[in-house]
Amino acid sequence: MTTTIEINKIEKSKISSVDFNNLPFGSVYSDHMFTCDYKNGEWQTPKIEPFGPISLNPSAKIFHYGQSIFEGMKAYKDADNNVMLFRPDQNWKRLNTSAKRLAIPEIPEEIFMDGLKTLLKIDSDWIPRKEGSSLYIRPFMFATGNGFHASPANEYKLIIATAPSGAYFGGKVKVLIEEKYARAANGGVGYAKAGGNYAAQFYPTQLAIEKGYNQVIWTDDNTHQFIEEAGAMNIFIRINDTLITSPTSDRILDGVTRKSILQIAEDNGIKTEVRKISVGEVIEAAKNGELKEMFGAGTAAVISPISGFGYQEEYYDLPVLENPYATKLKKLITDIQTNKTEDPYGWRVFI
Ligand code: COI
Repeated sequence: MTTTIEINKIEKSKISSVDFNNLPFGSVYSDHMFTCDYKNGEWQTPKIEPFGPISLNPSAKIFHYGQSIFEGMKAYKDADNNVMLFRPDQNWKRLNTSAKRLAIPEIPEEIFMDGLKTLLKIDSDWIPRKEGSSLYIRPFMFATGNGFHASPANEYKLIIATAPSGAYFGGKVKVLIEEKYARAANGGVGYAKAGGNYAAQFYPTQLAIEKGYNQVIWTDDNTHQFIEEAGAMNIFIRINDTLITSPTSDRILDGVTRKSILQIAEDNGIKTEVRKISVGEVIEAAKNGELKEMFGAGTAAVISPISGFGYQEEYYDLPVLENPYATKLKKLITDIQTNKTEDPYGWRVFI
């Protein structure tokens, strides 16, 4: 570790007030956060400080022009108290891909990784051991520089905050295939983890919830004929025994869970296809019984099975299978993440 970090620890830990057997997702925060400011054209000495409010000038550009990006990661603890991350290099790279697109300065790997690892060591008691729980890690960078001029800020902040968390979704979800709104367009920021991408989903999702659904299935912005993502996750569709997901593009996030699932599926004898998938193909497969499963894949929920979908006022139920790919793949990936099995890919990173 070569990064110098100023460390200011909390006086009294809050941990005794937390019920680790009933953790919500992302709303209980551990004692500390890692922060690093960018000013005068460079990243300053990073800090670890008590998790808490920050103060910004009302003209900070984050509030006006939305220069804000984030990542989602998890830390796990095995039965021997080893602490692990899953493919953290992928999150660091994608954070910088997002930074570039939003004209935010990129963060050096050393600051990000050393900061993250030091934070996890200091707050290691906050990493849950219970099956299905983990320490959700939220790195985010945003414009702190001031001014109403519509141009990139001259100052930024990186924060890495953590939240011991239980499951993201309670059970299976019902989804509505979107025909009017889009989450991303060609040439846009859909491939970046920009906060605004998620803000733009909230209203169409509210409309879907009013109709009795939990989430929206995003289709392409141009024709609304091709399936792209599931809520805030990538999507997988199983037709007969083939698992299909749409290719990454300007509009689709290069999900770490998505690409790991593709690799694990292939290596476990599940045929995969990365290709465009039309709404018509899915409807037809649903009608003739070939549509077996649909699920979302992302860091927070890992794999989120879909029980059925709506399209143009029709509802299509998915079958209840005895051994769904969703269950099998979720076990295979979480066993790697939590050190319950071999990791032939070298994805696990011990702290
Ligand atoms: C994740 O799966 O980590 C995501 O990015 C979803 C998030 C919006 C909770």
